[in-house]
Amino acid sequence: MTKKIVLYLLALSAIAIYSCKTNYPKADLRYTLIESPAARERGENLTWNVCGQCHYNRETGKFTGTQMKDLPKFMGKVYAANITQSTTYGELHQYTNAELAYLIKTGITHDGKYIPYMIRPTMADDDVNDIISYLRSEAPEVKPGDINPGNTKIKAFGKLATQLSGKPQPYLTGIKRPAKDDAVASGRYLVDIIGCFHCHSKSIISLNYLHAEESKGYMAGGLKFKDENGRKVWASNLSPDKETGIGMYTNAEFFMAVTHGKALGGRELRYPMKRFKHLTQKQSDDIFAYLKTLPAAHHVVKGR
Ligand code: HEC
Ligand code: HEC
Repeated sequence: MTKKIVLYLLALSAIAIYSCKTNYPKADLRYTLIESPAARERGENLTWNVCGQCHYNRETGKFTGTQMKDLPKFMGKVYAANITQSTTYGELHQYTNAELAYLIKTGITHDGKYIPYMIRPTMADDDVNDIISYLRSEAPEVKPGDINPGNTKIKAFGKLATQLSGKPQPYLTGIKRPAKDDAVASGRYLVDIIGCFHCHSKSIISLNYLHAEESKGYMAGGLKFKDENGRKVWASNLSPDKETGIGMYTNAEFFMAVTHGKALGGRELRYPMKRFKHLTQKQSDDIFAYLKTLPAAHHVVKGR
């Protein structure tokens, strides 16, 4: 059999499996939300940095959702949901806190569907708590925004890709945040839960959500995206290689690149990289400290 036929058969069987398996075990757990001003503050930072990447809408100034413009055409149209407290177009009011924690970690919705865009199985329990606490708060960005972000229409091939790009993750609890003064551990954790490695590794389909560093081509870049105008853009090599990676950056330059989209030499970074305005200097420094501990990968990324 030729390679093409094997691939075709594989695709067919994956579609068959997909069509049977749309109902995953739902959240069945007790959950106590612990609220405090400090929790909401941390939750605000994380909601911006993690969820805001896809759910923040610049026009409404709220987390009313946006179109995922960087997905390839064959996927169809995908809109990140409205996660404000709106009871008309929002999704959150349909979720208990337990279900929301379960969705964030496993990728399984309150009605047992799997969505692959936001799985964070290794997020610390306190951070999940803090995000939920912020989403339920009085902050203007999460108060009801009665707006439909758009109707997701995934094409058949997109459904297949969705299923191939990952599977529901286990619901792991008891995960602690790294110690604040451990810069490298904190940076590693941020790369993990913000999901820098989702875009900056070799491929979406070879990501390892439980052990990020085991993802193929971890942080060495090369993955192709689209900018806002539909032009190709390749994710940069963030390994510390001096020629092809971030080895020549200083802390200040790295912070400028990540939060203001200005790369070394003044190159303007394009969407999808424009989403981390809320990263603090310390968070950026920690990420940078961690990246410098990675093996330098000499990997020229297209478009540089
Ligand atoms: C990479 C983009 C991305 C990130 C990051 C992300 N989401 Fe989502 N989210 C989506 C998309 C896309 C959908 C809609 C999926 C669909 O319609 O099939 C969605 C749907 C949802 C839903 C509705 C689920 C349902 O029942 O239909 C909730 C709630 C949600 N996200 C919460 C969050 C929270 C909380 C975070 C941060 C911890 C987060 N998301 C991070 C892209 C993202
Ligand atoms: C949704 C995908 C995506 C995510 C998530 C993402 N990046 Fe990027 N990043 C890109 C793309 C694409 C580029 C290339 C942009 C360009 O060349 O215009 C890029 C470029 C960069 C650059 C520029 C380096 C250079 O000199 O070329 C840095 C630094 C960077 N990203 C850091 C990060 C960090 C840190 C995170 C996590 C906090 C992150 N990125 C998350 C897609 C992403």
